[in-house]
Amino acid sequence: MTTLNLNGRDIAIEVAPETPLLWVIRDELGLTGTKFGCGIGMCGACTVHLNGRAIRSCITPVGAVDGASITTIEGLDPNGKHPLQLAWIETQAPQCGYCQSGQIMQAATLLQDFPQPTDKDIDSVMNGNLCRCMAYRRIRSAIKLAATRMGTEAGNEQL
Ligand code: FES
Ligand code: FES
Repeated sequence: MTTLNLNGRDIAIEVAPETPLLWVIRDELGLTGTKFGCGIGMCGACTVHLNGRAIRSCITPVGAVDGASITTIEGLDPNGKHPLQLAWIETQAPQCGYCQSGQIMQAATLLQDFPQPTDKDIDSVMNGNLCRCMAYRRIRSAIKLAATRMGTEAGNEQL
């Protein structure tokens, strides 16, 4: 038995501990926003948060995250209106969309570390998230838009 807090909800699942977290999320729990790309930790399509930080769920055995807090794209914001999600829509960042939930989850970690990221920061942190549609420029624009908005919100809160 593995216990998790998934998107704010405590759950218990009976699967072999070596089962990849990605399969648990998609097949056992039915949250299909997280995608399977390469299965070997090389593309980023399966990116979720483990205790608030981006990880590759395809190479993470569920037994290794027993008791942890996992967030998927469905749980990033209760209404699907995280500043990154809104910026993604506004800049029309996705093309086919397949890589994009992983991109957004990775970008959320990026903005924790670099609240106002430079192109170099974005490139270095987003480097492992591949996009076959080559939407990298729009992804970068979306990240910068979200960063600006989030910075403004933080600024307003301090007033
Ligand atoms: S599917 Fe996990 S990194 Fe590619
Ligand atoms: S938008 Fe198609 S793979 Fe990234």
